[in-house]
Amino acid sequence: MPNVIPPTIDIRLTPADLRAAMERDVRQGLMSTPKELPPVYFYDDRGSRLFDEITRLPEYYPTRAERSILDAHAIEIITAAGADTLVELGAGTCEKSRVLLDAMASTGRLGSFVPLDVSDTVLWEAATSLAEEYPGLAVRAVVGDFHRHLDTFSDGGRRLFAFLGGTIGNLDPGQRTGFYADLTRAMAPGDALLLGTDLVKDRGVLVAAYDDGAGVTAEFNRNVLVVLDRELHANFDATRFTHVARWDEDEHRIEMWLRCEDACTVTVSDLGLEIGFAAGEEMRTEISTKFTPDTLADELAAGGFAVEKSWTSAQGEFQLTLARRH
Ligand code: SAH
Ligand code: AVI
Repeated sequence: MPNVIPPTIDIRLTPADLRAAMERDVRQGLMSTPKELPPVYFYDDRGSRLFDEITRLPEYYPTRAERSILDAHAIEIITAAGADTLVELGAGTCEKSRVLLDAMASTGRLGSFVPLDVSDTVLWEAATSLAEEYPGLAVRAVVGDFHRHLDTFSDGGRRLFAFLGGTIGNLDPGQRTGFYADLTRAMAPGDALLLGTDLVKDRGVLVAAYDDGAGVTAEFNRNVLVVLDRELHANFDATRFTHVARWDEDEHRIEMWLRCEDACTVTVSDLGLEIGFAAGEEMRTEISTKFTPDTLADELAAGGFAVEKSWTSAQGEFQLTLARRH
């Protein structure tokens, strides 16, 4: 029986870096028209817990759909990728990583696991549990930003880069182009990409997934204001803002907004900003793009990837794609 290998953590994004990025992003976002905040700031400890709750909501199908594909095809995926190292971007609690790690173990390829996430506490907890659960697995966690730190992965072995959950859809088209370019530079010949994407479907199903009956997604959305109140000494008062989720037919994406019901002025003390909101004004907090198999294949081809194989969940909600650099 191999020994437990103590996990390591590489901090590419220090609390000071994160703070500087938050100051820049919030200043720019609040001064834009319409106002906008990047989704990365949802994920403090509370936001990460709320997201975990979202994944178990009856309306939020993507996690279950993606998990069902992994359960059915993980061995095939790992065998086709030939991977002994799993690099996972935006890994969060690493729930789904276990399915891929089990497949690596059962095919005799369990080498290293390199999860990257901005959320350091969640990442470290997951890394510690996984190192204990998988003796012989080298867990090298990276606290980093997948927009900036894809040059991190120097370790050898055949690598499978996994970007699961549909998180690619939270990037706008320009960010996705930059992400694919960074990834093709980070990948060596023989490495593969496993990309999880949510698919276009009935508008009612999509909107319900982002506006659940229990109000957990609304809390998750408003959490970004709780984060800014705490971190930047702002006075948003999340209770003044209403959660809005709508489908944009032209852009093929769900957009989440926060609507300020009554006119108000918000102070962000640490930035020396006073920002006016008109009654009913909305601020965009997230996009969640949905794909068709064709739009995805085209986008990947333009980004430098050739699709090797793809799998769709039984009800056609979600797709996993194995791709390589071309
Ligand atoms: N992969 C998991 C979690 C998805 S939630 C799943 O499929 O269920 C999105 C994750 O990405 C969160 O853990 C969040 O902390 C992380 N994240 C969001 N923006 C990020 C960024 N810019 N860089 C790195 N991680 C990010
Ligand atoms: C992380 N990401 C893929 C989720 C999504 O579905 O876009 C975040 C989320 N936002 C609201 N619910 C879930």
